[in-house]
Amino acid sequence: PRVTIVGAGRVGSTLAQRIAEKNLADVVLLDIVEGMPQGLALDLMEARGIELHNRQIVGTNNYADTSGSQIVVITAGLPRKPGMSRDDLLKTNAKIVVEAAKNAIACSPHAIFIVVTNPLDVMTYLAWQATGLPRERIMGMAGVLDSARFETFIALELGVLPADVKAMVLGSHGDLMVPLSRYATVNGIPITELLDVATIERLVQRTRNGGAEIVELMQTGGAFFAPASATSVMVESILLNQSRLLPTATYLQGEYGLEDVVIGVPCRLGCGGIENVLELNLSDSETEALHTSAQSVRQNIMKAQE
Ligand code: NAI
Repeated sequence: PRVTIVGAGRVGSTLAQRIAEKNLADVVLLDIVEGMPQGLALDLMEARGIELHNRQIVGTNNYADTSGSQIVVITAGLPRKPGMSRDDLLKTNAKIVVEAAKNAIACSPHAIFIVVTNPLDVMTYLAWQATGLPRERIMGMAGVLDSARFETFIALELGVLPADVKAMVLGSHGDLMVPLSRYATVNGIPITELLDVATIERLVQRTRNGGAEIVELMQTGGAFFAPASATSVMVESILLNQSRLLPTATYLQGEYGLEDVVIGVPCRLGCGGIENVLELNLSDSETEALHTSAQSVRQNIMKAQE
C-alpha cells in the first residue's frame, strides 16, 4: 500500500518515518517547498538498511506522484507560535487544507483521508466539504494524541507504566476538549479509586493545555513526535483492518445530539475508514461539555467561510 503525506514538515516527516519503519506502507511526502521533501525522502531511504525495512519513500512537489494512494494524511499548514491558539491559524490553514484535499482526491479518488492540520476539527470539516467524500472516508486526528497525553500525566502521577493506563478524550482539539476521567483506568482500575478529585482535575487541565505547554517550551513550532505516533496508529488500524476503537474527529449526523459538525468521538477504524461511531451514555455534564465544544467548532467553521 501507499500513503501520501501532504506537508513534509515536522509532523509529516516524522509520520513518514513511523510508517516506513513500522513497515506499514510506502510513503509519498509532498510539500510546496522545492527539494525539501526529496531530501527528506532520500535521508529516510538511506536509513532503511539499518532499520531493516524495504519501504519506498518518495519526496515530491507534484500531486501526480501521489496517485493511487490508499491513505492521504494532510499535515500541510502553519503550526502555532507561542501565545497563539489553534484558532489563530484558521484562515491561512483553511486555504492550504482545502487546496491540498482537492488536489489529493483528484489523484487518489479511493483514498481515505486523515486531517492533522489545526484547528483540527474545522480543517476536517472543510476538507470533508471540499472533497465531497462520504464521512466514513475522511476524519481528523486529535483524540488519540490528547488521550495519550492524559494517559501520560496519569502514569507520571501514579508512577505506573504508560501502557497500563487507558483513557479517552473526546470533543474538539483545543481548550474545550472533553477528557472522560470516569472512564480512565490503570489496568481496569478506575483512576477515581487511585487519585483524589483535585489531582484528577489538575491532570485534566494539563491535558487541555498539553499542546501549548510544548509550544511554550520549544518556542519554535509545536509537538510532533507524539502527534506522528498518534496518526500512525490510525493509519495502522485502517491499513491492517484492525477495527481499533479510537477517538476520531468525524462528521456527526445526529450522534450525541449533534449534526453538521466535526468533533472527536469514539470510532472503529478499519479498511473502509470509519466503520461505526460509538455512542456512549454520557452524563449531563459530559454531554454539555461536548456540546459547548461543538458550538465553538461551528463558530469557527462559519468564520473560516466568511
Ligand atoms: P511545519 O511547519 O513543520 O510543517 C508544515 C509543512 O506544510 C511545511 O513544510 C510547509 O512547507 C508545508 N506547506 C505549507 N503550505 C503547503 C501547501 N499548500 N501544500 C503542501 N505543503 C504545504 O508544521 P508541523 O509542526 O509539522 O505542523 C503541521 C500542522 O499540524 C500544523 O497546523 C499544526 O498545528 C498541526 N498539528 C496538529 C496536531 C493534532 O493533534 N491534530 C498535532 C500537532 C500539529
